[in-house]
Amino acid sequence: MFSGRECVDGCETIISTLTLHPDEMFELKYRDGLARICELTTKHGKVTTPALLPVVNPNQLTIRPVDMRERFGAEILITNSYIIKKDPNLRERALKDGLHKLLGFDGSIMTDSGTFQSYVYGDVDVGHREIVEFQSAIGSDIGTILDVFSEPTFSREQTEDAVNVTLSRAEDSVSLKGDMLLAGPVQGGTYQDLREECAKKLSTMDFDVHPIGGVVPLLENYRYTDLAEIIIASKKGLNPSRPVHLFGAGHPMIFPLAALLGCDMFDSASYAKYAREERMMYPTGTRFLREMHDLACDCPACSKTSIKELTQMPMEERTKRLAEHNLFICLSEVKKVRNAIHDGAIWEMVEMRARAHPSLLSALKILKNHSKYLEVFEPTSRRGAFFYCGPESYDRPVVERYRERFFTRYRKPDAKVLVGFEESGKPYGRNYANEIASISAKADANFLVASFFGPAPIELDEFYPLAQSVVPDDLDQEVREKMRNTMERHAHQHGYPLAVMWDGQETLDFLEEIAPGKGDFDLDLLRVRAVLDMQFGRGASDILCDKKVEFVKSKNTGKIRNVIIDGIHAFSMRAHDGRLTPKMEGAKMLMDLLPPPAMRVVVEDEPATFAEKGNNVFAKFVVDCDPGIRIKDSVFVVNTKDELAAVGRALMVRDEMLAFKRGIAVRVKESVD
Ligand code: GUN
Ligand code: ZN
Repeated sequence: MFSGRECVDGCETIISTLTLHPDEMFELKYRDGLARICELTTKHGKVTTPALLPVVNPNQLTIRPVDMRERFGAEILITNSYIIKKDPNLRERALKDGLHKLLGFDGSIMTDSGTFQSYVYGDVDVGHREIVEFQSAIGSDIGTILDVFSEPTFSREQTEDAVNVTLSRAEDSVSLKGDMLLAGPVQGGTYQDLREECAKKLSTMDFDVHPIGGVVPLLENYRYTDLAEIIIASKKGLNPSRPVHLFGAGHPMIFPLAALLGCDMFDSASYAKYAREERMMYPTGTRFLREMHDLACDCPACSKTSIKELTQMPMEERTKRLAEHNLFICLSEVKKVRNAIHDGAIWEMVEMRARAHPSLLSALKILKNHSKYLEVFEPTSRRGAFFYCGPESYDRPVVERYRERFFTRYRKPDAKVLVGFEESGKPYGRNYANEIASISAKADANFLVASFFGPAPIELDEFYPLAQSVVPDDLDQEVREKMRNTMERHAHQHGYPLAVMWDGQETLDFLEEIAPGKGDFDLDLLRVRAVLDMQFGRGASDILCDKKVEFVKSKNTGKIRNVIIDGIHAFSMRAHDGRLTPKMEGAKMLMDLLPPPAMRVVVEDEPATFAEKGNNVFAKFVVDCDPGIRIKDSVFVVNTKDELAAVGRALMVRDEMLAFKRGIAVRVKESVD
């Protein structure tokens, strides 16, 4: 019998995963919200996720697995162990030579268990322990338990049964996995509470991957709203340090949305199935070959062929060509998803792709109902600008967050009057510099712009995402309506004796009369105060009370570079996102004012001494963390006695820091030494 760790042929490399803890197989590299680029380690090498696993039917190799690796760059594929076990010839060869030799593939191979066959044919004649043992015996890298397919049409009772049997089989199965990674699928039909509960229970067991199962009928019927709800409910219950596979998701149309919601792996039999039906897949949908005017594709399978040549090819060759096209398109879309995650542009990609199908747009629209959950994973700043792609952009979690923080954290400075400006060139302070100067010479005023994001005090004009955003001049009606509602909310609670919209000289004359006196408007000081409160919490700016505050500014841009408090360099201001990076002294000032757990990442005492020397903080050393910390926040690394070891930027949120056993939780910027 094949042991799984022997070399089955000369070229194969086997990595021992026995020394790794299950939660160490998966390392976070880049992220954008719940979407993430990770590295999954299996016995047959490393796999970059999000990954598409082409489905290989051992009885029908439309594209040879070796080509999948060499021509298509697939690092991992998936096949069905039940099909192999049922066929005496395949079974014997798999047991004798191993799965990798059987398929002629030396990358990672995941196997499924027969659950889908059970769903299609009503039953399978294999035991749940037997099929896990078989997968391990043939050397699968990632096996799957025999879960029960919970159909969307199931009643609650039927669904509960499916979940309970799945959980009981899951418990029986984990001890049998040996050195194979094991997948424990989340079931629960369309019942969100059952999905979350099932996910929570599976997370307590020794699994390495969590597929989301029972969703094929939803995918086939474009029920993307239900799918989105199911993914979110499952993610809420799952251990965030484990990869999530979306079973049966093989159309590129769904990849961006699924990745945005935290799916790391997809599998596709569609590339071959659609090819047999003479259908071509594109990120925007599927087309019958006979309906097309031009292939309109530069993939290697299409680039040297005209539609006429393709149509006239012998059928077998044409099917192969179409399968190749479909697979290229699917793999290419996954690469684009990875790029979008890397660039911090996954929301933009999802909003643009949502135009491909009304059901995708419906799914996008319901995400606003989950803003609170999704906001937790959204970085507080990112590389690229916020791009408006449509009215749904207004409901992105980062926009919600800005409004929420403005209303709960921002404290208005003292002044007699508030002057409002229309949204226009950015940053607003520079755009309205002349108006601000002439008003401040005659009246005691503060300034605010009615921005897309909500009320934008002029002193926050460089703060992400206010300046780092591109929105059209003429916004959609529904967005204007929502902006007006937000401004009305502000009008009710801003607390100024008087507020006026700027309308040129007339406003100036009026202000001179109603709020006379030269204002002491100090944009630099107001900026640092407002950013402190928005970034670290309401009241954080009290560290400036009765202190002498000075600024070092950039000679080129005039922007604040350093903030000096009573002669001490306490903060630096980042030019690209208008946020403050505390120096050790600044962090101590904030810690004196903000009691634990505010902005703290607590690490064991010994690793804290490493952080003191400037080393990054690994997740496995984190013992606790402020649940309010968001990705890219400046955080205080402390030991268990709340002594400051370092200041850094968070790369994970609390639940992730506590779950991941691998990867960096805080990138240290300042430290004791
Ligand atoms: N393939 C498609 N859906 C499923 C599922 O729910 N479970 C398993 N094991 N395989 C699947
Ligand atoms: Zn093509």
